[in-house]
Amino acid sequence: MSGWRVALLYNLKANVPLGAGAPEDALAEYDTVETVQGLENALRAGGHQVIPLEADETLLDTIRRAAPDICFNIAEGLRGDAREAQVPALLEMLGIPYTASQVLAHALSLDKAATKRLWRDVGLPTAPFQVFQRGDEPLLPGLAFPLFVKPVREGSGMGINSRSVVEDEQALRQQVRWVIRTYRQPALVEAFLGGREFTVGLIGNTLAPGERPPTALYDERGFHTFPLLEIDVSPVAEAGGLYTSHVKSDLPLAPNYLCPAPVDEALAQELRRLAVAAFQAIGALDVARVDFRLGGDGRPYLLEINTLPGLNPTYSDIVIAARAEGMSYTELVNEILNLAAKRYELT
Ligand SMILES: Nc1ncnc2c1ncn2[C@@H]1O[C@H](COP(=O)(O)OP(=O)(O)OP(=O)(O)O)[C@@H](O)[C@H]1O
Ligand SMILES: [Mg+2]
Repeated sequence: MSGWRVALLYNLKANVPLGAGAPEDALAEYDTVETVQGLENALRAGGHQVIPLEADETLLDTIRRAAPDICFNIAEGLRGDAREAQVPALLEMLGIPYTASQVLAHALSLDKAATKRLWRDVGLPTAPFQVFQRGDEPLLPGLAFPLFVKPVREGSGMGINSRSVVEDEQALRQQVRWVIRTYRQPALVEAFLGGREFTVGLIGNTLAPGERPPTALYDERGFHTFPLLEIDVSPVAEAGGLYTSHVKSDLPLAPNYLCPAPVDEALAQELRRLAVAAFQAIGALDVARVDFRLGGDGRPYLLEINTLPGLNPTYSDIVIAARAEGMSYTELVNEILNLAAKRYELT
């Protein structure tokens, strides 16, 4: 491999336009200068020329001028029901290669209900749920309190707070209406999962018949799962045991991150297996992070998949997990780039 021209596409928090009445955690998903700088350094260290570009309306012009060989895409997108798919859609139109998932997988993964329907369809475990468009729909008979309420398509813990766990009808209606009004989207209500919380970072792609894994890092299916990361939020009393947007954005170093998580081999294997299956079910590419919680029955349930997992060089979950097995940030970033380059046959 020799150096490529890599356009680094991002949406910096500072440049995101906020509409009137935007919720207080509206910027939680967007990128920090530290992350963009970290990625730039990592790609340079990989021998590439890096062209950093803000992924706003100017991108249509700047990307054509930059004429990159490939893009490293972390852009969250500015608006709409499938914002994470916005930049990939533009790059598809222009025929420019880019890292990570394509349009449909990003659109699906942003919509937790759509993802859960798909997983349910292929027999993967995810908590029973209901989507509330209005707030006054009758609760489905299969759903029993306590329940958990969250926006159907946000990330970074947005819209998740101490009132997200609801014990009765009144609290449910109140939180559902708050989510719909504040985030201007349906509320997802699902069974509350009271057990331990894990996240599994993975890189790789499904192999074609007869295709060999890219390197010895990848298993015979073409994937590499990082050590399980357990997130223990108990040190943050105000978070009520939940990994909220306040904890994720303001107190990222406060939870105990246990990596590798202290679990028995059978559970570890099951979580890794489910993470790969969840990734394949939505047709994700190159990289993702899959979140789980254990239910009262002690079994793991899929919460969601992040097809644009945070890549902060210090505290993002997948970065912590890679580091735990000795993979540096530079290696992780270049591994993702190389997976995409291989798909586009750039190598
Ligand atoms: N059904 C549930 N039962 C218990 N806790 C839950 C449930 N759903 C979500 N949570 C808690 O809320 C947190 C955030 O939920 P989730 O991962 O679905 O949202 P997110 O905001 O998209 O997260 P990310 O930052 O990973 O993008 C979880 O990490 C977990 O602590
Ligand atoms: Mg999550």
